Amino acid sequence: MLDNWDALRETALGCTACKLCRGRQHVVFGVGCPTAQIMLIGEGPGQHEDEQGEPFVGRSGQLMDKMLRYIDLDRSRNVYIANIVKCRPPQNRDPEPEEIAACMGYLRNQVALIRPRIIVCVGRIAAMTLIQPDYKVTRQHGEWVLKNGVWMMGTFHPAALLRNPRNTPTGFSDFLVLREKIAELGLSI
Ligand code: URA
Ligand code: SF4
Repeated sequence: MLDNWDALRETALGCTACKLCRGRQHVVFGVGCPTAQIMLIGEGPGQHEDEQGEPFVGRSGQLMDKMLRYIDLDRSRNVYIANIVKCRPPQNRDPEPEEIAACMGYLRNQVALIRPRIIVCVGRIAAMTLIQPDYKVTRQHGEWVLKNGVWMMGTFHPAALLRNPRNTPTGFSDFLVLREKIAELGLSI
């Protein structure tokens, strides 16, 4: 565990701990405020994220930014956004269990340094990894669980909403649930 954000970032940027290092253009460490009270955690970089080195910058990211703005949050001001794996899986396949295991230390270290009050798991892979191995987004989205003192919920991945737009209003309503939790905890953001 590193106690220094820049050292952690530098270590991740040079990481070769799993085979995803081979095809990458950038290690996508994360974006946002390192003292944020809210973290959003996705699955892994896609093509645009790999090219630009920042999470959620493609079409999914634009929708995510819209959902954040809907409840007056902003990726650079009051949240921190990261992924379960920091390098792009080829053809955007799901990250494999060994890749997730190899990468989890970085996310754990990020969470330990940020000490968020709330973590939103964006999509199935993040929710299965961080909340419960058999997590079902369609059934459990928007439900809170308290884990190690952190309020956690899962929601639809914006890519899933783009594929299946009839779930979009439900996706937005999860962000209202997030806003309520922010108010309930009295977080000033
Ligand atoms: N999807 C994710 O899960 N993460 C990103 O950073 C981009 C798309
Ligand atoms: Fe290292 Fe994670 Fe990239 Fe694998 S995905 S090489 S563990 S930073």
